[in-house]
Amino acid sequence: MTRKRYLTDDGIAFFRSVISDENVIIPDENNADYAKDETEDLFFQPEIVLKPATTDEVSKILAYCNDNKIPVTPRGAGTGLAGGSLAVNGGVSLSLERMNAIINIDESNLQVTVEPGVITEVLQDAVKDKGLFYPPDPSSKGTCFIGGNIANNSGGPKAVKYGVVKDYVLNLEVVLANGDVIWTGANVLKNSTGYNLTQLLVGSEGTLGIVTKAVLRLIPHPAYNLVMLVPFNNMERACEAVSAIFMGGITPSGLEFMERDAIDWAVDYLGDVTIPIEDNIEAHLLIEVDGNDMDVLYKDCEKINSIVEQFGCGEILFADGSDQKDELWKLRRNVAHAVKSRSIYKEEDTVVPRAELPKLIRGVKEIGNKYGFKSVCYGHAGDGNLHINIVKGDLDDETWKNELPKGIKEIFELVVSLKGTISGEHGIGCVQQEYMHIAFSKIQLDLMRNVKKVFDPNGILNPGKIFDRNYTKY
Ligand code: LAC
Ligand code: ZN
Repeated sequence: MTRKRYLTDDGIAFFRSVISDENVIIPDENNADYAKDETEDLFFQPEIVLKPATTDEVSKILAYCNDNKIPVTPRGAGTGLAGGSLAVNGGVSLSLERMNAIINIDESNLQVTVEPGVITEVLQDAVKDKGLFYPPDPSSKGTCFIGGNIANNSGGPKAVKYGVVKDYVLNLEVVLANGDVIWTGANVLKNSTGYNLTQLLVGSEGTLGIVTKAVLRLIPHPAYNLVMLVPFNNMERACEAVSAIFMGGITPSGLEFMERDAIDWAVDYLGDVTIPIEDNIEAHLLIEVDGNDMDVLYKDCEKINSIVEQFGCGEILFADGSDQKDELWKLRRNVAHAVKSRSIYKEEDTVVPRAELPKLIRGVKEIGNKYGFKSVCYGHAGDGNLHINIVKGDLDDETWKNELPKGIKEIFELVVSLKGTISGEHGIGCVQQEYMHIAFSKIQLDLMRNVKKVFDPNGILNPGKIFDRNYTKY
């Protein structure tokens, strides 16, 4: 199927009049930089890539695209796992990479104002220098952008104690589809003034507006942490231990689950990390506690120790120093890359109430057996957020194509029956939209579609995302 083309000579000339020539790119077959993200093997070449540097430039571009009904797909660092930044309908890829300033760190209010192209870890390091902490830390924190994190309401390991991106976004400067520029709220910690436009924009995957500035909440940086890796010979028991830790009165700053293949594959992938793992081990919990009093942290670890023992854990590895802590976290953060390097795969981002995790993992394995696929599961167990990587391995193409969607549908039905939902932090993008009806009724989806129409009547903003293409005009 050939895609409709939106680009005209007039359009190109207009874009060049708004931003300098070198920031207007017409990609060819030798330039796939903007055609991919981290989602499986998707490839959608935009017709044109625009790299504005100011809110005013974004506004002019959007006003033109709105008048001429040209699709605009906003793009951060391209680390997304749901194809959210891919120009599936062609048109403009609007890269926010040049808008990468940390505008102001307000130490008296514990707030920071940033542009969307700031790398998450760069922000974290900048505020840490002042004793402050911006906790949301997706595995891709070294490359992903704050703007993409806001678009997806990202989480990461620290969310279990500190919350996700939405918990840190106070106010957003947003360019609307027609080029109007608004602030969504106020730079305050409490706000009961009208509808919460700020939180409506968070997680909207670039379908409602383009975030050009964000005011984020900061907290004091905790002084210490301790990290331990706990092996279990039964993965359901590992999942049962997760809620027991919270019921024991501990809120860890990280509580991650990795089944055996996840950790083995990450060890192989990295090549420079060795972890002794006994043959009978099915899964690990990676647990971190943090705070300002070392004695309290040691006591927390003792308590955790006594709890996990009740679930049949093996010998616990306590990280002895920052190098080993970094190594364990590096392993965990590289699981997705490790899986990707092994096989074609399909990533799911399920989330259930934490205590339902054992039922989820058992169900996922049963569904896999029924349809003949293998899965590698890992993720933010403390949040009930399980990443399920279904790997193709030796499966034939027919089975992969025909059986996989049935299996995914069953997994999502299970998740919803457990009072969970189909994405915890990766978003819907263009790869999960056909499953939205499992999580939402027509009434709910119509409400969302109507919101979309109010913000973007011409449907130019990130078209082809979130809503099922068979069911919506966008
Ligand atoms: C992680 C990403 C895939 O948790 O969300 O590693
Ligand atoms: Zn994750």
